[in-house]
Amino acid sequence: MLRTLDSVESFGGEQVVIRCDLNVPISDGQIKDAGRIHAAYETIDEVLAKNGRPVICSHLGRPEGVDQALSLRPVFDYLSDKYSDLKFRNPADVRTEDSVVLLENLRFDSRETTKDAAEREVFARQVLGNAKHVVIDGFGVVHRKQASVYEMAQICPSVAGRTIEKELSVLERLSQSPTRPYTLVLGGSKVSDKLGVIDALLPKIDKLLIGGGMMFTFLKAMGYDVGSSLLENDQLDTARGYIERATELGVELVLPIDVTVAASFAADAELENVDTESFNQTRFGDSGMGLDIGPKSAALFAEAIIGSSTVFWNGPMGVFEFDRFAQGTKTVAEALTRMDGLSVVGGGDSAAAVRHFGFADNSFGHISTGGGASLEYLEGKPLPGLEALID
Ligand code: 3PG
Repeated sequence: MLRTLDSVESFGGEQVVIRCDLNVPISDGQIKDAGRIHAAYETIDEVLAKNGRPVICSHLGRPEGVDQALSLRPVFDYLSDKYSDLKFRNPADVRTEDSVVLLENLRFDSRETTKDAAEREVFARQVLGNAKHVVIDGFGVVHRKQASVYEMAQICPSVAGRTIEKELSVLERLSQSPTRPYTLVLGGSKVSDKLGVIDALLPKIDKLLIGGGMMFTFLKAMGYDVGSSLLENDQLDTARGYIERATELGVELVLPIDVTVAASFAADAELENVDTESFNQTRFGDSGMGLDIGPKSAALFAEAIIGSSTVFWNGPMGVFEFDRFAQGTKTVAEALTRMDGLSVVGGGDSAAAVRHFGFADNSFGHISTGGGASLEYLEGKPLPGLEALID
């Protein structure tokens, strides 16, 4: 059983290290989606309410050594509005009198991510400092065997935070007891990133909708010419295998029936909606590239989603960052808000997309804070960060 904050009555005024996942998208010093920061509040507030002094830590990006472009300072500035006593420190510099601390990016120290377990343990002890308790709350990183996730939780008494608890209860429902009809909606650029989740969920779902860059590998596998759209040639056989397996299992595989094709990869590119049936006679024959599912496909996907009782969606349907290629992703997001049942948005890009469109978090059943971690959970892989938290 997962050990949670329920098992702690009081932290007795001691420092408590809280491993969050504050790996948020930042550009020009601005936080683009603060979802992961907001998700961390409940646990931080509970540690404070239970007389603990939080030492909050996280990674940001994948720096090689110290890289000021990946400093957690913008996150510190954001959190300071809520925690006025917050101090920003390097891992070795926490002071005993500090009441609330955010540590600088843990991955500035290569021992956080090294394969050498002994070095990871030394770093984990340094991050722990004087703290006597650890709360692991960074669900998005539990699939990583890293010092602050794996070793730290074994060195001193550790429990899972509320973010992890909530994520696991939703993911358990998706993998063990989904209410049917159950629809899996996949997008994003690569088929290769989604192989595990397709393998694991195909026997459990009723419909599989495929959009995003990965749709072209499926369309090509079915014999369509996809011009210069994103394509993984080495995954064509895999895609064919999934098309056959879906048929064998009675899963309805829904591929786009039209695509928004652009003359080039640009926000203002000339565009055209092309039916997949006429792909081979149109722009796809030359340099056109598909940047979104077309309006007919978006309507078809929305209908399938609204008719489902459980939906797990991971990966945008198109290049939603360009307004004119955002329609597919927006329509799918909106359909999830209208369905009656459990709607789950997984993956950083999809979560960022729904907030970019202005949908409120509570219009969905759950927005996962984990991309890779939620996929690995659904694939049935062991998650190292949970090992020490389960009795
Ligand atoms: C994520 O964004 O998926 C998590 O923060 C994990 O980041 P990582 O893939 O760099 O380990």
